[in-house]
Amino acid sequence: MQVRPAVVEDAQRVAEVHVWSWQTGYHGLLPQPFLDELRPSQRVPRWKRIIQQDVWPRQGTLVAEDAGEVVGFVNFGPTRDDDHDSVGIGEITSIYVLPTAWRRGVGRRLMTMAMLALRTADFASATLWVLEGNVRAIRFYERLGWQPDGGVKDDVIGGIVGGARFELA
Ligand SMILES: CC(C)(COP(=O)(O)OP(=O)(O)OC[C@H]1O[C@@H](n2cnc3c(N)ncnc32)[C@H](O)[C@@H]1OP(=O)(O)O)[C@@H](O)C(=O)NCCC(=O)NCCS
Repeated sequence: MQVRPAVVEDAQRVAEVHVWSWQTGYHGLLPQPFLDELRPSQRVPRWKRIIQQDVWPRQGTLVAEDAGEVVGFVNFGPTRDDDHDSVGIGEITSIYVLPTAWRRGVGRRLMTMAMLALRTADFASATLWVLEGNVRAIRFYERLGWQPDGGVKDDVIGGIVGGARFELA
């Protein structure tokens, strides 16, 4: 497995991994009709824009490739939270692995490389938001040393569900 910075040509595949990982990972957490209607094509323009705006190492998108195929990605940057200092605190904005590749160390590799980039960019710590009830992700984050910092919000996905903030110092 290889982890490398995403290029704009990856946007289609990143959008596929994003949607398929949502549909499996958020089953039972988000309304089923909402999940059923998700289409990778809706997200390609957004991912193209995000990848084009990457500013290494402060803000970036990394993809994990296995046998030449992208099986996961992570996006990170300065925190977007109003109550935090965006100069010193980074954020893991999204991390998604293809369901068929779960529990093979892909997420761990992506997170390690993203945190390396954030530390290279002089961020002292980082945070991320996780959906309430997303036990799989919570176990994953806790295993990697992340802990809840007490931050909560009720509008993680358009007011549908709440979420908790985790931090890694
Ligand atoms: C969360 C996610 C990114 C983890 O990726 P992954 O590649 O499966 O994780 P890894 O294989 O690197 O797991 C690393 C460690 O985390 C823990 N872990 C991962 N998944 C777990 C699970 N389902 N249950 C318990 N522990 C888990 C384990 O300790 C694991 O190490 P081990 O397999 O040696 O025991 C992946 O499950 C995913 O894409 N989920 C859906 C999307 C999502 O919820 N993203 C997070 C949004 S906030």
